[in-house]
Amino acid sequence: MTVQHYPFELLPLPYLYDSLEPHIDTETMYLHHSRHLRAYVDNLNRLLKPYPEFHDWTLERLILENKKLPEDIRQGVWNNGGGVYNHQFYFAGMTPKHTELSGKLKDALYLDFETWDDFYEAFFEMALKIFGSGYLWLAADERGKLVILPLPNQDTPLSQNLTPILNLDVWEHAYYLRHKNLRAGYIKAWFQTINWEEAERRYQAALLKNALQGRRAGKNST
Ligand SMILES: [Fe+2]
Repeated sequence: MTVQHYPFELLPLPYLYDSLEPHIDTETMYLHHSRHLRAYVDNLNRLLKPYPEFHDWTLERLILENKKLPEDIRQGVWNNGGGVYNHQFYFAGMTPKHTELSGKLKDALYLDFETWDDFYEAFFEMALKIFGSGYLWLAADERGKLVILPLPNQDTPLSQNLTPILNLDVWEHAYYLRHKNLRAGYIKAWFQTINWEEAERRYQAALLKNALQGRRAGKNST
């Protein structure tokens, strides 16, 4: 993701609102991006405006070092900063192009879940079971091992020392217009839109970051 700091902007989608049809409908994409994400961006800026000392903090830093923020904006920045991060990540993780699981991510997925069907079923079932609002994440730990992680509201795996690879937004605003309360149809549709090229880039970046951290740790211990 591009490095961003205050004032945060509503980044355009990397495709048109109707590009993910028939999987994700145009109106849902329009409202999700131009209303829901915009509200998180505007709220985050409003909270940070009176605190110039945090205006050069990135989204990631606002999340990772959230406890250092003044108490009156801490939870708001957690919710709205997470809302910006998670939505940007979600939108960039989808594409109208046909992409396929490949490369190092494919190797890791088969290593950690054995078969595509095992991965798909585990992800699908966990996405169905999330109670209330949240996201289901595919994330990598510091050794590159993949985990499926449900998180509530706008929490992110960053604060658990995991690198996010993909996220599925299961807030009702992500699917209610097309699928009503039937989340399963939305989960199946979302699988058709996954940007596996972006997921592979994210996974390779995670491996590189972890390798560098490992080398630094090794250097510091000698
Ligand atoms: Fe959302």
